[in-house]
Amino acid sequence: MIDVKILLVLGCLLCAVCIEGQVLPTVYEYYTEGGINSGLEALPGQFKLNGKDITLYSGSIHYFRMVPEYWRDRLRRMRAAGLNAIDVYAPWNLHEPRKGVFDFGNGDEDFSKVLNIRQFLQIAQEEDLLVILRPGPYICSEWEFGGLPSWLLRYPDIKVRTSDPVFTGHVRQYFDQLLAQVVDLQFTRGGSIIAVQIENEYGSFGPYDEIKDRDYLAFIRDAYVQNGINELLLTCDSPALVGDTGSLPGYLMTANFDNNPATQFDRLLELQPDKPLMAMEFWSGWFDYWFGVHTGGLSPENFAEHLTTIFSYNASVNFYMFHGGSTYGFMNGANKIPVFPGYLSDVSSYDYSAPLSEAGDYTEKYNITKDLIALDNEVLTLTPAQPPNNPKTAYPALQIQQFLTYDQIIQQIPLQLKTQIPTVINMEALEINDGNGQSYGLTVYRKQLDLPTLAELQIVGHIRDVAMVVVDGVQKTKKPQGSGALLGFGFWTNRNSTFAIEGAAAGLNTLDVVVENWGRVNFGGPAYFEQKKGLFEGPLLVDGVELTDLEAIPLELKSKWIKSLTGWQAFEVNQNMTGPVLLRATFDLSEPPQDTFLDMSAWGRGSIFVNGFHMGRFFHVGPQITTYIPAPLLLQGTNEIIIFEHYLAADELTFSDVPILGRN
Ligand SMILES: *[C@@H]1O[C@H](CO)[C@@H](O)[C@H](O)[C@H]1NC(C)=O
Ligand SMILES: *[C@@H]1O[C@H](CO)[C@@H](O)[C@H](O)[C@H]1NC(C)=O
Ligand SMILES: *[C@@H]1O[C@H](CO)[C@@H](O)[C@H](O)[C@H]1NC(C)=O
Ligand SMILES: *[C@@H]1O[C@H](CO)[C@@H](O)[C@H](O)[C@H]1NC(C)=O
Repeated sequence: MIDVKILLVLGCLLCAVCIEGQVLPTVYEYYTEGGINSGLEALPGQFKLNGKDITLYSGSIHYFRMVPEYWRDRLRRMRAAGLNAIDVYAPWNLHEPRKGVFDFGNGDEDFSKVLNIRQFLQIAQEEDLLVILRPGPYICSEWEFGGLPSWLLRYPDIKVRTSDPVFTGHVRQYFDQLLAQVVDLQFTRGGSIIAVQIENEYGSFGPYDEIKDRDYLAFIRDAYVQNGINELLLTCDSPALVGDTGSLPGYLMTANFDNNPATQFDRLLELQPDKPLMAMEFWSGWFDYWFGVHTGGLSPENFAEHLTTIFSYNASVNFYMFHGGSTYGFMNGANKIPVFPGYLSDVSSYDYSAPLSEAGDYTEKYNITKDLIALDNEVLTLTPAQPPNNPKTAYPALQIQQFLTYDQIIQQIPLQLKTQIPTVINMEALEINDGNGQSYGLTVYRKQLDLPTLAELQIVGHIRDVAMVVVDGVQKTKKPQGSGALLGFGFWTNRNSTFAIEGAAAGLNTLDVVVENWGRVNFGGPAYFEQKKGLFEGPLLVDGVELTDLEAIPLELKSKWIKSLTGWQAFEVNQNMTGPVLLRATFDLSEPPQDTFLDMSAWGRGSIFVNGFHMGRFFHVGPQITTYIPAPLLLQGTNEIIIFEHYLAADELTFSDVPILGRN
């Protein structure tokens, strides 16, 4: 007897793969049938791939913003929506963490495990998705310095994103390594890559009427070609804003926008009447800033309306983002704005209100996308079933068990990282890390001196970006409350700011000014790419006297260092322990781990480490309240969570089974 249920299941599966008895081809089968003779071509009014008409239904996804265990799962969800392609950036700052040291997943760095771009592109192909590759080198994407490595800033006069030979020399070395990873994955060689982008929104770099450095764009084109890239090359910009100023003559221009698709496409058609239309970045949602609100970008209604308009132009589309993921560690970018507070730092969640949530869940925008693509797409291909959403668990609250004092933390910074400096200098200029300086985290500017009971500290110039004052290991700065705090001491907004140090003990004191790099700006003109962090504009003064001969101590909070810490002391509840302090808790899971969220609403400000992996920042001002912990970062067995708290430690960690990305 054959089970009726099995027959029913088989029947359903068969319906899904055939129409009128014919089995549907996969995207690859359809476009490579009879052999591969040509790649993607931009012909008047339409794209062709290997000689067949194609409309690109593509979605942005960043392999470096999700754990590799979930790459296939997220890609399948994208394909299940009817997408036939993905768009991928590559983060130079992670792939070349130190000058000449490259990491494509084989390194020994904090984020090495998320850097195997080659494997990611291979999985994309296995999941039946074509690839648009955007190597940058500038990738914007709310990413630290738009993906540029901070060690570039050690060249005092470097002009990034121009044909400055110092800059292009480094781009060239990086591209030689990066492109060697993927060159054989091009479509015409049997792989997934159908197009490669030249730079990124170059028209938005600098004033719109300024003549752009087209030699630089040509240099990038040449670096691609010399490295064997021969698929379609293109640029992207918002044509209604910057026209063709970011383009390279002869290469396909595409459009970026959220609202007004018709205005953008009409302008693009004026500039480029003989090419097919593509929205390279249709902004499906938006990102958030600390101190801001959770906006979500386009509403589902507007998203549907604009996507309908895009398809009415017979255009191809790439959703930016289709799945945003998380910005781990200190990798968030920031923006400069012409009004107060001048600088805004991006939160660690990159949910982006995209069709797939940060945890990979389906949203209303996913359903809309799937429905509208099904209406538009004339090429019927075999589409996988939607994988179910992953289960989420709110684990029981976890008592903090141990702590390390600020002094214990500083003592465990390796001696070779502590340097003597005559006066303040930016973190990138510190003579550490094999001549690469400090890239991320916090820098302690330390001076031993005899402070009076009341002393006035002045930081001449600006703070880049946020400062705490710690005297003899005791936090003197108050926990910031609301955006009004930005007017007070400790933030980038103030110049020559002063702080009253009260109650220093008699005798020799240790004065620490702890300055945090809150993320380098990832968008704007050349002036916005001056991105030094720490203190460097002027000296530190105490009661008007300049402090010289300081010690610089980097708090990079790297995973290996976090895992190496010893001397943990027993934590007692209700002690109101002030930071800066490290807190530790362990817990056992007897079952396979599930996705979860840490709810940090009871905490102040700092960083979260799960089994040594730096999940990102938290800050009670929001809007982001929870931090997504994907199951693959947890272990069946004993898990360790470490919190670096700047201000006031809570007694326990609370879990949630739903995200809280904003309370409005
Ligand atoms: C729309 O694009 C498709 C796919 O490229 C093509 O087959 C079709 O002819 C185009 N239609 C118009 C009206 O341009
Ligand atoms: C998406 O569509 C499915 C199937 O119709 C439905 O069950 C689900 O509730 C929808 N999801 C959202 C978030 O609207
Ligand atoms: C900041 O302090 C420096 C050094 O005392 C001084 O030269 C400069 O004029 C001050 N700037 C402002 C805006 O007060
Ligand atoms: C900690 O703070 C709470 C709330 O302000 C207070 O009730 C408690 O007494 C404090 N504990 C200590 C040890 O100071």
